[in-house]
Amino acid sequence: FEVVWDASAAEKGGWSSFMAKEVSEEPEAVANTIRGRFSDGAVTIPELDGLDELFLGIDRVIVVACGTAAYAGMVGKYALEQWTRVPVDVELAHEFRYRDPVIGPNTLVVSISQSGETMDTLMAVKYAREQGAKTLSICNTQGATIPRESDAIVYTHAGPEVAVASTKAFVAQITALYLLALHVGRVRGVLSAEDSAEAVSELEAIPAKIARVIETEQEHIEQFAGWMADTASVLFLGRHVGYPIALEGALKLKEISYIHAEGFAAGELKHGPIALIEPGQAVFVIVPSPRGAAELQKKVVSNIQEIRARGARVIAVAEEGDVSVLPFADEVLRIPLAAPLFEPLLAVVPLHIFAMGLATAKGLDVDQPRNLAKSVTVE
Ligand code: G6P
Repeated sequence: FEVVWDASAAEKGGWSSFMAKEVSEEPEAVANTIRGRFSDGAVTIPELDGLDELFLGIDRVIVVACGTAAYAGMVGKYALEQWTRVPVDVELAHEFRYRDPVIGPNTLVVSISQSGETMDTLMAVKYAREQGAKTLSICNTQGATIPRESDAIVYTHAGPEVAVASTKAFVAQITALYLLALHVGRVRGVLSAEDSAEAVSELEAIPAKIARVIETEQEHIEQFAGWMADTASVLFLGRHVGYPIALEGALKLKEISYIHAEGFAAGELKHGPIALIEPGQAVFVIVPSPRGAAELQKKVVSNIQEIRARGARVIAVAEEGDVSVLPFADEVLRIPLAAPLFEPLLAVVPLHIFAMGLATAKGLDVDQPRNLAKSVTVE
């Protein structure tokens, strides 16, 4: 009798893949990133103690990152601008580095990197410093190169991420950006204590809501992902904070299932992408909350009607209780109620599960997709 010890299976803790394990850890990734950073409804980030002057002196923020981290940055822009009123640009690190950007001592360059080793992002940070800008790193890896090269660090506490496609680190990055935005908003005197406390309680409720999405939707999503294994192309539409989520849903699908996928801003549909809609085309639509963002929600529902009229197969990611999408959607994936800025943290979860379900149905290795590396340390 021989006991066969499979070290990799043991590390996965009973999960079929690291990605499956890491998606299941999305609630903890958010919870651990906020832990110890709130007291009495206010955000306190010990790592940022003594940096008030830096945050008071900036007149512009540029977020630099690559891949999934850049989409987290795009989500973070909405919160940073809303709570700090400082203008924010988000740029791919490799584009930023080689375009002679106008930056100086009043610019804060925020880099986002799970590994903290991505060469493109590192070069952008070094370049920003050389130009005299201030740098802050959002990173998941203690002591990595990018945080060491930065003036300030806010660590995400998602825990080690092994699967090449980033999942739990993504929700942790958005969380860290929100904490940063709340902190800077208070330091600059732009955000009231009440508004900050309200945002804090929204954020505290997120882990349980993500857990609910996984609990109630995972099986359903995996089932229809299986039916879609032969699909040649999938489109994703979103608006406002749902737009970067559409981009992330498409990226994840490309990365691990090798299916052509594109994310679009829903408002852009009529300016081009609608030409792609033909009978049977699968389109995921991130639907904003009918309570929190009624105007946007109506616009997105009318986008759904437009594509449905052309035969698209609509998969709506919509708030629990939103019945307006029912007549036009082939599938509805439900997410719990949250204030509009917090919806991305919920809406992305079904998209991660879908990409994983589809790749699994195709028999692919979801942890090690072809041609990709977890951390790209060359330019
Ligand atoms: C690689 C990975 C992506 C990741 C990107 C940025 O391309 O395959 O999943 O989003 O790098 O990685 P970072 O470690 O900087 O977040």
